[in-house]
Amino acid sequence: QSFNRLKYLPPYYTLSQVELDIALDPARTIVKSRLEVLPGPNHEAGLPLVLQGQELEFVSLRINGEAHRQFELTPLTLTIHALPHDGCQAFSVEIICVCIPEKNTSLMGLYVSNGNFFTQCEAEGFRKITYFLDRPDVMARYRVILRAREAEYPVLLSNGNLLSTEKLANGWHTAIWEDPFPKPAYLFALVAGKLECIEETITTSSGAKKLLQIWVESHDLKKTRHAMDSLIASIYWDEKRYGLELDLERFMIVAVGDFNMGAMENKGLNIFNTKYVLAQAETATDADFANIESVVAHEYFHNWTGNRVTCRDWFQLSLKEGLTVFRDQEFSADQMGSESGRAVKRIEDVRLLRQLQFPEDAGPMAHPIRPDEYQEINNFYTVTVYEKGAEVVRMYQTLLGREGFRKGMDLYFKRHDGQAVTCEDFLMAMADANGCDLEQFKNWYGQAGTPTVSVVESYNAAKKEYQVTVTQHPPANVKNKDTKLFHIPLAMRLLTPAGDQQESLLELTQESQTWTFPDVETRPVLSINRNFSAPIKLDFDQSEADLLTLFSSDDDAFNRWEAGQKLAMQMILQGRLPDAALISAYRDLLMDPALDPAFKDLALTLPAETYLYEQCVSVDPQKIYVARRAFRKAIARELRMEWASLYQQMQTPGPFNPDAASAGKRALKNLALSMLLEADPLIWSPMAVNQYRNADNMTDRYAALAALVIQGSSSAVACLEDFYAHFADDPLVIDKWFSLQASRPPVTDAVATLSDVRRLQGHEAFRMNNPNRVRSVIHAFCMNNPASFHQMDGSGYAFWAESVLALDAINPQVAARLARGLDRWKQFAQPYQSLMRAALERVAESETLSADVKEVILKALGD
Ligand code: ARG
Ligand code: ZN
Repeated sequence: QSFNRLKYLPPYYTLSQVELDIALDPARTIVKSRLEVLPGPNHEAGLPLVLQGQELEFVSLRINGEAHRQFELTPLTLTIHALPHDGCQAFSVEIICVCIPEKNTSLMGLYVSNGNFFTQCEAEGFRKITYFLDRPDVMARYRVILRAREAEYPVLLSNGNLLSTEKLANGWHTAIWEDPFPKPAYLFALVAGKLECIEETITTSSGAKKLLQIWVESHDLKKTRHAMDSLIASIYWDEKRYGLELDLERFMIVAVGDFNMGAMENKGLNIFNTKYVLAQAETATDADFANIESVVAHEYFHNWTGNRVTCRDWFQLSLKEGLTVFRDQEFSADQMGSESGRAVKRIEDVRLLRQLQFPEDAGPMAHPIRPDEYQEINNFYTVTVYEKGAEVVRMYQTLLGREGFRKGMDLYFKRHDGQAVTCEDFLMAMADANGCDLEQFKNWYGQAGTPTVSVVESYNAAKKEYQVTVTQHPPANVKNKDTKLFHIPLAMRLLTPAGDQQESLLELTQESQTWTFPDVETRPVLSINRNFSAPIKLDFDQSEADLLTLFSSDDDAFNRWEAGQKLAMQMILQGRLPDAALISAYRDLLMDPALDPAFKDLALTLPAETYLYEQCVSVDPQKIYVARRAFRKAIARELRMEWASLYQQMQTPGPFNPDAASAGKRALKNLALSMLLEADPLIWSPMAVNQYRNADNMTDRYAALAALVIQGSSSAVACLEDFYAHFADDPLVIDKWFSLQASRPPVTDAVATLSDVRRLQGHEAFRMNNPNRVRSVIHAFCMNNPASFHQMDGSGYAFWAESVLALDAINPQVAARLARGLDRWKQFAQPYQSLMRAALERVAESETLSADVKEVILKALGD
């Protein structure tokens, strides 16, 4: 079944009030609901009320207090006929049904994790709790009574404010929660179990006091400080940057070890994967600390961009996700504490976009940030909707300026607070607040694929005149012939020895445009798409000499980094090693005392293999791996003196601090260590073992271990054993232990990694129904270890097919994510291509595929 954006119809019925009475029992949870139903905007007399419900046992139905027998049940619906007054006036519906949380391995709806109850309702999980109008444009007020045995479930949480609690005679107890804000069902949440919290009271801009809580299992309480600090910083940032205040008396975050995604913004009760909450120096890396900060901010920011103003339908998902990712990116950039830190954050975000979203946009699952069609909405929580969506929001800010963007945001909330709206509504708020026409800008929402922008420059020395001609080319893979032109903001600057040229913004709106610059005394070097002002591929045949100039002196840190990436990429793809000029540029950059260590780390980190694949017509994964590794080895050897001195200089003595400056130093130090091991493994392995043993933080301990494992050092085995023994009772650390081994590149013999992965799957700590553990082994190997995965005998693909099928029976969302692993099969050379196709066909043949996996596989095969 396929859903189409243009077939949207407003609801026939809506809800004003929802009362839920939920008696929690893992084996048999009884859900009583009372819905106040109203005729909706699209109502006609006599229409039945169709509610969604899935995997529920129906018990009873009453309408206006009377037993009602005119209804039909299907596996996905409850259709109620013969409504009072033909459904033209308000009426109440009372339903009793039963669900089985302990059997729910999909982790959608109500489920059990480590003995506690949790929910996940976005996008369509509420229908697994009770029969409901489960669509985001139906918004209601909720009052929830939770009941459970007090000894096993002492804590009972739901959205909004706690009204009362009561102990019952039979060992059960209850809690009544009320959420004052109308919301769609996807924002409903409940949590029950043995949890404890840290709490903090803060005063927000209006002077109101707010209670903040982070709920975890008691042994994890010591790991919640960073998440709390991140939450407080997010609350103040949203007040300062956007004038948006926390609107509830209480805001709770709860951590759960079994979770499909990163986290969920349920109103007032955010539920998080433990991975994005728990951190302390001994167990979490700098990257973990940064991710926690950004995910906590992301979910908090949803309170306005997502909850107060929500989506009309799921095609509009990027309305909340693209905007909220943009907001969390800006927050994290501000938290970096310096201009160079902001640039580092931008580079990291663009690297992620190009590594993951560009391939998606060029493959069989390519879709516009506002998709037109889907079979399973869970498949559209993608890097396109999220990350490219954020780039599109960023372009408004680039075009309108920060102030113009803020005006647009203010108008958006003024117009749409409390509503469920569309991407177009957001665009109109931006346009109207700034009195500008964004008609052409709309095309970013409707067309899939990454546009290419080609650049041709010319300099007339006699006239002292510089000309640049910029042309946009529609993405190669979009089927639609009448592709529309994009409105592309290109930040640019001419670099001259005199430094006399200013930065300007070119707005490319036609197919091809030429800009002329007078009074340019010497031939300049063009720096274009600065700060990655548009999510495009740049086709610009700039000489290596110009790229070196940019790499050593562009004042735009992003483009400076980009020039280095481009030089390395071109050489790797040509099978070359870095030449003397590039090595000397690397040396100057590494030794420049004025540069941010985090920037140096990024500048010396080579483009990912999967990004290199995107530059090839026919991918030979082994050849690319070998060329990239050889290039890396050359950098390691040519700069061994510099790496050794940086390894000393970048030490961070004193107590661990996860701030950006210290993290940057550690990143560069650990890059140096891995380079030293690459250059002279026998000399430096003992140093890595030393760092592994003596580290007081996970960043340094893990980096040393990773360097040893990647190098295939003989000490790696003992260190891995020690690591497991030391952290066996910390699941998030054990995930790292698994993923390091599953993503180990081939050392001598690539087949070894697959047999390692099979061995890891048989390990006592492997759990096929825990998404984090599965991702740290299976996804890590199939999607994060290309050189080991792509084997000429097809063994990696056979393992993939087997794993997709096994996981699909447990958790379709986790399986569908893995199913994306062969998306780009057509891009590969033989024999890989045929072997991948055979693996896809093997999965397609299964008769029990979920809608999630089926959509992904059939699109990959091109049906
Ligand atoms: N809205 C959540 C976030 O971006 C993601 C939830 C997606 N869940 C899902 N089952 N598709 O923070
Ligand atoms: Zn989100």
